[in-house]
Amino acid sequence: MRDTYGRQITDLRVSVTDRCNFRCIYCRSAEPENYQPPEHLLTWAEMLRLCRILGTLGIRKIRVTGGEPLVRPGVEDFIAQLSSQGAFEEISITTNGLTLGERAQALKAAGASRVNVSVDSLQAERFDRITRTKGTLRRVLEGIEAAQAVGLNPVKVNAVVVRGFNDDEIVDFAKFAIQRGLVMRFIEFMPLDADHIWDRARVVTAEEIRRTLEAAGLPLEEVPRHYGSETALRYRFAGGLPGEIGLVAPVSEPFCGKCSRIRLTADGKIRTCLFSRLDHDLRGLLRGGATDGDLVDEIEHIIAAKEDGHHINDPDFQPANRTMVFIGG
Ligand code: GTP
Ligand code: 5AD
Ligand code: SF4
Repeated sequence: MRDTYGRQITDLRVSVTDRCNFRCIYCRSAEPENYQPPEHLLTWAEMLRLCRILGTLGIRKIRVTGGEPLVRPGVEDFIAQLSSQGAFEEISITTNGLTLGERAQALKAAGASRVNVSVDSLQAERFDRITRTKGTLRRVLEGIEAAQAVGLNPVKVNAVVVRGFNDDEIVDFAKFAIQRGLVMRFIEFMPLDADHIWDRARVVTAEEIRRTLEAAGLPLEEVPRHYGSETALRYRFAGGLPGEIGLVAPVSEPFCGKCSRIRLTADGKIRTCLFSRLDHDLRGLLRGGATDGDLVDEIEHIIAAKEDGHHINDPDFQPANRTMVFIGG
């Protein structure tokens, strides 16, 4: 599948739920959102059907996201069924890690390849404040250890750096990567949050992170990307230290020109960009008796209309029609 800009679409992010057991300040609102009623969510069988069709159209990698994917009962079985379709090189998960300690083994056994875990502070109280929870950091760190122990590697830890919230922890995060031998990724804050606290001044750029680490005696050496459309720029530490750094810089160094991603939301819409202003509904077709052929036609039509990029840096930038928790990152 190629879009009108010649980009080959090989990656699918499937959001399996719009619910989350955290309420991170850069993502959700303090006020309860209106969750989708259960009948609006695709069933596992509907998701599996769409994934199978998308596999025939060239999707090679699937990332399971949410909300928080592990809050929807049955996600292990979903991954096992996806694996048995045999079409995907990789099935990975993006999670907040809260229940990963208990789930890592079953996820690995189901066929998950690896996990990315969000950790936005290594300080317990601050972690509570950012996630609006109580005493959860310890469990998330145990979840990361469990994932490493069962071989869901490489474990990537994601921190969205927001100026004034956690930008004083950049060096601590890098040391954490060295100590634990994992990939620590710093993500530029994007305008997708429910509370509209995003402001350009709160974005800590990849360049700023490179400079901060260098000034702390941790210079980085660039490593080639695994694949062209990878979100992160990859670095190792000079001097052969363990661990790796990733810089995800959608705001200061956009990577839209190489984008290979589409998204399926929990309520059955295809999004051709994180910043799309509209969704393309497949649920209605699925439930209206569409054949596989009908779905293929519709998906090809949707992909042809994938936008060239996010335009965050344009003066007339318009925010997306959904916030992050309803898209899946
Ligand atoms: P890897 O396959 O391990 O590289 O994962 P990933 O970086 O694609 O996925 P992850 O869920 O860990 O996302 C990390 C950050 O990148 C999150 O903030 C995502 O919202 C962001 N991200 C993922 N895909 C895109 C994209 O296509 N565009 C933009 N702007 N951001 C993206
Ligand atoms: N900007 C950048 N990244 C975000 N994420 C959630 N909200 C934002 C935002 N506004 C990240 C999460 C998770 C991934 C799916 O997206 O921290 O790592
Ligand atoms: Fe792809 Fe849109 Fe992300 Fe750019 S912002 S990389 S076009 S999904």
